[in-house]
Amino acid sequence: MKQFRAFVTTETKKNAFNYSIQDKNLADLPKSDLLIKVQYSSLNYKDALSATGNKGVTKKYPHTPGIDAVGIVEESKNKNFPINSSVIVSGYDLGMNTPGGFSEYISVPSSWAVIKPDLLTSQDSMTIGTAGLTAGLCIKAIEDKKSIKGINAIVSGATGGVGSISVALLSKLGANVTAVTGKKNSHQFLKNLGAQQVIDRNQFLKSVRRPIGKGLWDAAIDVAGGETLSSILCSLKYGGIATCCGLVDNPNFETSIFPFILRANQLVGIDSAEAELSNKKKIWELFSNDWKLDNLDQLTHIVNLEELSSEIDKILSGNQNGRVIIKL
Ligand SMILES: NC(=O)c1ccc[n+]([C@@H]2O[C@H](COP(=O)([O-])OP(=O)(O)OC[C@H]3O[C@@H](n4cnc5c(N)ncnc54)[C@H](OP(=O)(O)O)[C@@H]3O)[C@@H](O)[C@H]2O)c1
Repeated sequence: MKQFRAFVTTETKKNAFNYSIQDKNLADLPKSDLLIKVQYSSLNYKDALSATGNKGVTKKYPHTPGIDAVGIVEESKNKNFPINSSVIVSGYDLGMNTPGGFSEYISVPSSWAVIKPDLLTSQDSMTIGTAGLTAGLCIKAIEDKKSIKGINAIVSGATGGVGSISVALLSKLGANVTAVTGKKNSHQFLKNLGAQQVIDRNQFLKSVRRPIGKGLWDAAIDVAGGETLSSILCSLKYGGIATCCGLVDNPNFETSIFPFILRANQLVGIDSAEAELSNKKKIWELFSNDWKLDNLDQLTHIVNLEELSSEIDKILSGNQNGRVIIKL
């Protein structure tokens, strides 16, 4: 039986976890439609939670995290996914309670997979990964309401995975992007990605008048929740739209009715995990064409399985810059 390597988190005693690289057999994987030889996975915030024993994400251990992967189909029970086709899998249960992409092989239902667009390299597809897919869904929700060209957009957690791709893509599409960051030494990184203005997170929070202040932003992408989202909602322009997808600060936030009834603002929630496959497909197609980003190298850091643990610590402490991808 073929052996392969995987990153495995184990519960050593109640609520104590460690991780290691282990040899596995194909028989250890669930029996599903597609057996995929993984080329790249990527590190997302949720992976770090799963890897460190967060039972809100992963209920049972031992477990291999990795909520996304790109690879080559080696065995298939679905003729739409021939052997040797290149596929992207992201979300649904991958890496949550199904063994994930931090592994040389995954086995998944074909309803979780899309054929990788030819114009997107495997490496770029994981640089984008779940974080980029989420940024893409946020931007699509904004675009459905207003043209992106020339709008004032604000992005929180700007140096992180979702944030950095949002900054790069909004700026490519012609928005004037303001990036909010807690990292004092990353302002140039964000300007290189296309941000026109970079604001220190604390300064931003202090600058906003409550319950409603000056209208500054036509659109927002928020990954933080908490005070950051509250502040964004106080400072949207008339008809503004805020998309929220994350909670790195706090799942709770305060707001009032004023942004909604005085300024006709909208708050839109974004989920990439359970989004319909057809929507995911559209976003991957856009990233391979009209949304093609030519500066992905600037925000990519490639590691192997052995180097993952320090990257997990970094993302959990909010200190990650851009995207980490794992080469299998
Ligand atoms: N809804 C979905 O489908 C979906 C999909 C992907 C991710 N997410 C969620 O989105 C969030 C971001 O994910 P990610 O992969 O981009 O994580 P990430 O790479 O760790 O980025 C998060 C960034 O947020 C900023 N940050 C950290 N602590 C903060 C705080 N207390 N207040 C405000 N900002 C803070 C930091 O950037 P700066 O230093 O630049 O401020 C950090 O780099 C997570 O909550 C994740 O679970 C949701």
